[in-house]
Amino acid sequence: MSSAPLPASPEGVSGPQHVAIIMDGNGRWAKARGLPRVAGHRRGADAVRRVIRGAGELGIPVLTLFAFSTENWTRPADEVSDLMGLLRHYLRNELEELGRNGARLRVIGDRGRLARDIVSDIADAERRTHANTRIDVNVCINYGSRDEIIQACRSLAGKVAAGQLSADRIDETLFERELLTAGLPDPDLLIRTSGEQRISNFLLWQCAYAELVFVDTLWPDFGKEHLELAIAEFRRRERRYGGVGS
Ligand code: FPP
Repeated sequence: MSSAPLPASPEGVSGPQHVAIIMDGNGRWAKARGLPRVAGHRRGADAVRRVIRGAGELGIPVLTLFAFSTENWTRPADEVSDLMGLLRHYLRNELEELGRNGARLRVIGDRGRLARDIVSDIADAERRTHANTRIDVNVCINYGSRDEIIQACRSLAGKVAAGQLSADRIDETLFERELLTAGLPDPDLLIRTSGEQRISNFLLWQCAYAELVFVDTLWPDFGKEHLELAIAEFRRRERRYGGVGS
């Protein structure tokens, strides 16, 4: 990882190195103001900008944001269209801001169901931010963890069937190489906004040992100060990885 490590907390606990966020509550934010849901998503996109900047300033090397799940296609067609429009707008118009933040963008998810122009915008945004080194920003679009795990199994099974791989060589390292997150460290902190306490098919394998922090703030209101509070909570936790701790 090329970014500077996050400074240790006063207690000497370092990290997190990878923060993943389930950005929830855009709809409730809009409803509370008598606005259409798309207004909440628009303000959610502003929060994305704030949080990327804040995470960079806090020295977090990897940030992963859940923007659109494989299940979100079941929302009303106009909301799906609004969300796709926002993502399109983001990919086309945020590259300078990402550059200012030293952010390298990677989109994680199945691109097969996305509109062709969005697929091409993704490739363009990834290429144009590739040399940025301060923070890796992964945006999950049409991402579902179960689907990702099944695709990984299929790929390994195909290699076994083709005689390229012996089944008893499959271990965690080999499996992780088949995931869409290959090459990334596992999230050590998973934040969900809006008071909901679920993982919702997000990074199920990768979050095996993540600390979960649920905050009541709705995503459009979330900012650097909320991120700092979640990190402070993370640093208070004792991480035992199945052991007995110190
Ligand atoms: C969940 O809130 C949010 C989403 C499904 C979409 C997230 C999208 C954004 C934050 C904006 C676009 C993203 C980028 C990267 C530019 P919800 O709609 O489920 O809210 P609710 O639970 O209150 O209804």
